[in-house]
Amino acid sequence: MEPTLEFIKSNEKRFLDELFNLLRIPSVSADSKYKGDVAKAAEFIKASLEQAGVDKAEICETKGHPIVYAEKMIDPKLKTVIIYGHYDVQPADPINLWNTPPFEPTIRDGKIFARGSCDDKGQVFMHVKAFESMMKTNSLPCNVKFMIEGEEEVGSSNLGEWIRENKKRLTGDVILISDTSILANDTPSIEVGLRGLSYVEVEVTGPNRDLHSGVYGGAVGNPIQVLCDMITSMKDKNNHITIPGFYDDVVELTKEERIELNKTPFDETDYKKDLGVDELVGETGFTSLERTGIRPTLELNGIWGGYTGEGSKTVLPSSAFAKISMRLVPNQSNAKITKLFTDHFNKIAPKSVKVKVTPHHGGEPVVTPTDSVAFKAAAKAMEKTFGKKPIPTRGGGSIPIVALFEKELGLKSVLMGFGLDSDLIHSPNEHYGVFNFMKGIETIPLFFRYYSEMSK
Ligand code: BES
Ligand code: MN
Ligand code: MN
Repeated sequence: MEPTLEFIKSNEKRFLDELFNLLRIPSVSADSKYKGDVAKAAEFIKASLEQAGVDKAEICETKGHPIVYAEKMIDPKLKTVIIYGHYDVQPADPINLWNTPPFEPTIRDGKIFARGSCDDKGQVFMHVKAFESMMKTNSLPCNVKFMIEGEEEVGSSNLGEWIRENKKRLTGDVILISDTSILANDTPSIEVGLRGLSYVEVEVTGPNRDLHSGVYGGAVGNPIQVLCDMITSMKDKNNHITIPGFYDDVVELTKEERIELNKTPFDETDYKKDLGVDELVGETGFTSLERTGIRPTLELNGIWGGYTGEGSKTVLPSSAFAKISMRLVPNQSNAKITKLFTDHFNKIAPKSVKVKVTPHHGGEPVVTPTDSVAFKAAAKAMEKTFGKKPIPTRGGGSIPIVALFEKELGLKSVLMGFGLDSDLIHSPNEHYGVFNFMKGIETIPLFFRYYSEMSK
């Protein structure tokens, strides 16, 4: 066996033990109560990169959570790969639905159960261990820079500024990211597109105070009802979004491109069974692969108002709220869609209420090239470790920083992720296969090797 692969195989147990220590740190970026733990996770990443053999590693403070930057320069004439990932995680709620505590990692059925195991600590740690394995076996073929942030799950709002301020040290040739999924463990794939995101919170206010629902009900507009009506009106019977101009900038795929996209293995029966639903719902005229890959959407992420506690309380609430996300596809712009939504929401509000729209974070969509040396190197590396050529896919999720890397640094990314859509990221019982973790560590050094060889 090749020395790097041998090193990886013989260190599996230690790699997992170390990953478990990282997973035990509840680095929830959204909740200020965990600020200290987010900082601890950054220190952990820094220390593991130092131990793995980088020249220098640094914790870079931002207005929010810190960015860990590290580099190993072997020769400025060689290529430089920039690794991006995030060590922050989503909140673990609802905690009571976890079979084992979210920050006490355990392995069951070959899967590591813990918040962040797949998204993205497990995948970031693959890069740390792959780098260590190349260093220990003297096989690192080019320069590496690491940029591991702590605010991805809350919109990477300080990373853009940091990139602009650190342009000089961020010179490189390609960005490599493992924060996406493959189709199945026996069907490797590489995501070549990510959707953009426009996220807003809306508030609908009716009467100036909560009212008795018997004394006033029937005569006064109910903000929850109004909000529901407004939301309902934003999609027609074909599940087409009715906000004027919403689709104006959408690039339609050619017939050939659609045929190609729909060749992606997808079993609708299995998909429904896995989710426990009898019927799928989406925009008429498009397949599920298209609905999640190349079409924009509008989804409710949360809705609240009135009394939701135990028992019943007869109340006509003064206000109602919702959090709404819109996923965007190439050529749509987050700022423009947010404005179209805001204008429309204000316009359709009946006189019985006042409305307020507050934009949250957002991001632009991206498509990544399939004809670049880096993509070809990733495909060759995956083909070698999985024994099958990876299929290019269009992902439904968002990693807003990918478009920013292109804009600010002029660098393209390769999305070589190893998760599965069924890993329950953001949900209770998130997990990551030991198979996937190890496969990642084995594939990354091959990417480095092929990328260096093929760029000569
Ligand atoms: N890693 C995910 C994005 C992802 C998951 C892409 C699976 C492709 C496949 C990332 O951490 C994430 O959750 N992004 C957020 C956006 C962010 C601004 C909160 C998302 O997609 O909702
Ligand atoms: Mn992620
Ligand atoms: Mn995430």
